[in-house]
Parts: sequence; C-alpha cells; structure tokens
Amino acid sequence: MRLFKTVAGLRTYLASMRDKQTIALVPTMGALHKGHLSLIRRGMSEADVVVVSIFVNPLQFSPHEDLDKYPRQLETDVQLCQESGVTAVFAPSSEEMGIDKTFEPPTQVIPPPAMISSLCGPFRPGHFQGVATIVTKLLNIVSPNVAYFGEKDAQQLAIIRQVVKDLNLPVTIKGCPIIREPSGLAYSSRNQYLSEEQKKEAIALYQGLQAAKQVFMAGERQTNVLTACVTEKIISYSGITLQYVECVHPQTLQPLDSIEEAGLLAIAAYVGSTRLIDNVILRVR
Ligand code: PAJ
Repeated sequence: MRLFKTVAGLRTYLASMRDKQTIALVPTMGALHKGHLSLIRRGMSEADVVVVSIFVNPLQFSPHEDLDKYPRQLETDVQLCQESGVTAVFAPSSEEMGIDKTFEPPTQVIPPPAMISSLCGPFRPGHFQGVATIVTKLLNIVSPNVAYFGEKDAQQLAIIRQVVKDLNLPVTIKGCPIIREPSGLAYSSRNQYLSEEQKKEAIALYQGLQAAKQVFMAGERQTNVLTACVTEKIISYSGITLQYVECVHPQTLQPLDSIEEAGLLAIAAYVGSTRLIDNVILRVR
C-alpha cells in the first residue's frame, strides 16, 4: 500500500492505472472504525483500485466546534487501510489542500439552500459548504470512477449526490448502510468522546428511531406522530439534549407532513457535550 501526502504524487501514481482499472475513492476524516471499513470493503469488492483519503477538513468545522480535539491517529489508520487491502491512502496537509490559516479557500462549492435549510443545516452554518467544497476537491484530485459515502450522514450524502449532478462531475456516488455496534449505537469517530455510561445512554437515539419505525410499519404515515415517538424516548434520558428530530424527503431533504413513498427520519442530540446524529429511512412498500 502507498501513502501520499501530495496531490502531484497521488496523481502521478494513479495516472498509469486509469486506462485499465476502475478507481474507487472513500473520503474520510480518519479515526477509522467499522463504518469506514464497510465503505472500504464495498470499494474493494467493486473496483480495482481503492483510494482512502484521510483529511480532517477545517472548512466543515465552525469556530466553536471540535476541530482541535477531533481524533487524529494517522499511523493506526494507515495500518488499518493496509490490512484491509487498500491501494493508496491520501493524507494531505491543510496547505496541500489549499486551505490557509483563515480557513477560507479561494473558491467554494455552495449546496442548494433548500438542502441546507433542514436537519443539521441550521445548526451548523457553513458546514455543508465546507463538505461540498472539500469533496469536490477530492473528486477532482483523485478522479475516481466511483466514490462511497455512508447513509449515516444522510444529509451529506444527498447533498453530494446533488453537487455531483449539478456540476456534472464524472463519478458514480454510492451510499452504504449504517454500521452499528451490537447495542444499536451507530459507529462514529466521535463515540471516542463518550464515557461508558454515556455510550449506554446514546443507544436511546437508535431506540427512538426504532420505536418510530415500528409505529410506521404498523401504518402510521403522519410525520408529527413519528417524530413524537422519537422525542418521547429521548426525553426520558437526562444526559441527552435533543437538537432536532425531523422527517424529510430522502433526496430533496424537504420537510414532509406525511410519508407517501419514503421519509428520512433523522435526529441530532448531545450526549453530554458530544453531538451525535442518526437516522432511519422509512419506506412504504
Ligand atoms: P467521516 O465522518 O470520517 O466519515 C467518512 C464516511 O464514513 C462518510 O461517508 C460517513 O457517512 C461514513 N460513515 C461514518 N460512520 C458510519 C457508519 N456508522 N456506518 C456507515 N458509514 C459511516 O463524513 C466525513 O468524514 C466528512 O464529512 C467527509 C465526507 C470525509 C468530508 O470531509
């Protein structure tokens, strides 16, 4: 496996492979866990060459967020990638990605306002602009045939699909299912911040979503009833502060009053000072 820290080095290496081999990109911010590894495995099974990018993107963190304390463990991550059979890791510095100390790139990709007016958008101003900008840059640097993203970050996935469509980027975006601990807690690099006690409490996010899913499967289609199910579960935990529970259209991210075909039921909550997100797709069959 090769490790590249420069755009030029990675591009030269990939140039010789482009003709005959399909290239997959798995963008990450590192602190790799089973969720990331599932994306890598999917890439390994579908493409000849798998590139994993590891870059803690300053553009997607607000000043008060956890950029400085975000877990960084490049050596362990590189080892995990090697063991998984990854072809190359791309781990650039901020400077290499064209981001200076002001955290303002000269050019930015702004997602459609309607896609950032729901869910995490209002609570994380500038976040999806930072994600869209860095993902566009990574796609341009690697020029993969296919790129993999987790459904755990469902709003991010929908926005990236839209950006790729709107900017005619020549790549196929594939979404991968949420990987969970046996308890139901979705794997996240931020789970490292949780104490054992908080980890137990955090399961309530999943349990709330599952409770709403049961009610949906029993025939309920009104989203206010479904979101109330989640809220009811969460408020019984004193250590959890709910930020939002919303049900939106999975592609447009527009709020839904009732579910006709499919709804994305999503939650964000603080467990102590750690912000967690989770979701479930509710499909009418
Ligand atoms: P990061 O949080 O490191 O996640 C990288 C990818 O792994 C994302 O596509 C995310 O949805 C996926 N992922 C995380 N946890 C998962 C889980 N439990 N199950 C399945 N997939 C999971 O998301 C980012 O980084 C950044 O915003 C990035 C896209 C790299 C841009 O900076």
